[in-house]
Amino acid sequence: MRLILLGPPGSGKGTIAKKLEKKFHLLPISAGEILREEAAKGTLLGKEIRKYTDKGNLVPDNLVTEIIKLEINGKNNFILDGFPRTLEQAKGIRNITIDLVIYLEADEKTIVERLSGRRICRQGHHTYNLNYVPSAKKGICDVDGTPLIHRKDDKPAVIKQRFKVYNHTIRPLLGYYEQKRILKKVNAALPPEEVFKEVKKVIKK
Ligand code: AP5
Repeated sequence: MRLILLGPPGSGKGTIAKKLEKKFHLLPISAGEILREEAAKGTLLGKEIRKYTDKGNLVPDNLVTEIIKLEINGKNNFILDGFPRTLEQAKGIRNITIDLVIYLEADEKTIVERLSGRRICRQGHHTYNLNYVPSAKKGICDVDGTPLIHRKDDKPAVIKQRFKVYNHTIRPLLGYYEQKRILKKVNAALPPEEVFKEVKKVIKK
């Protein structure tokens, strides 16, 4: 199965992708995580990426699309988390058959609150929330024991910019997948397990 998760920043795309990985053995391909990993290496490409991500702007379409296509290459069971984000990106993978696009809907107030409480581990693979999904030991990742950090782009000014970008790009993208009749909406303002239940229902239909 080939899935796309769409939704505003902090709607829970990464959280749901991890649950889908466990339940259905789908490989999560997180655009944000891949870009952060490259940025952390401090390579030329990484430095270029940071120019955009640190300010809450989108990395250029052609660059992200090439990176994601390389990740997808030859795989049949995956979840795209955070890609595509623009109509251009969606068109960039038009030759890859997508079975289902799930749109995680949540209002801005709920999401801003989630993002301010989000903490991720240094490896970047595990996500927690001070209010909703705390780690067992404060400030330490349950899985790999590394310290938890606050993402640079989870600061209020950058969150505001990420929302601005999202609001500007989401409509054409939803229209594109609606036309293909593969778009399903899920209420993502519920607790994580409830959201996951709804996602599973949509997948099994
Ligand atoms: P990216 O990392 O993809 O950021 P995002 O889309 O803004 O999404 P987030 O990772 O912030 O949130 P999420 O929806 O995964 O929510 P999560 O599960 O973590 O991208 C970062 C940057 O990279 C972008 O700004 C851009 O610069 C660049 N980029 C990425 N993709 C790109 C692309 N395609 N093109 C160009 N540039 C790109 O949950 C959030 C928090 O809430 C967590 O603390 C979690 O524990 C908690 N939580 C989750 N679900 C619930 C729930 N149901 N109830 C309560 N708390 C919950």
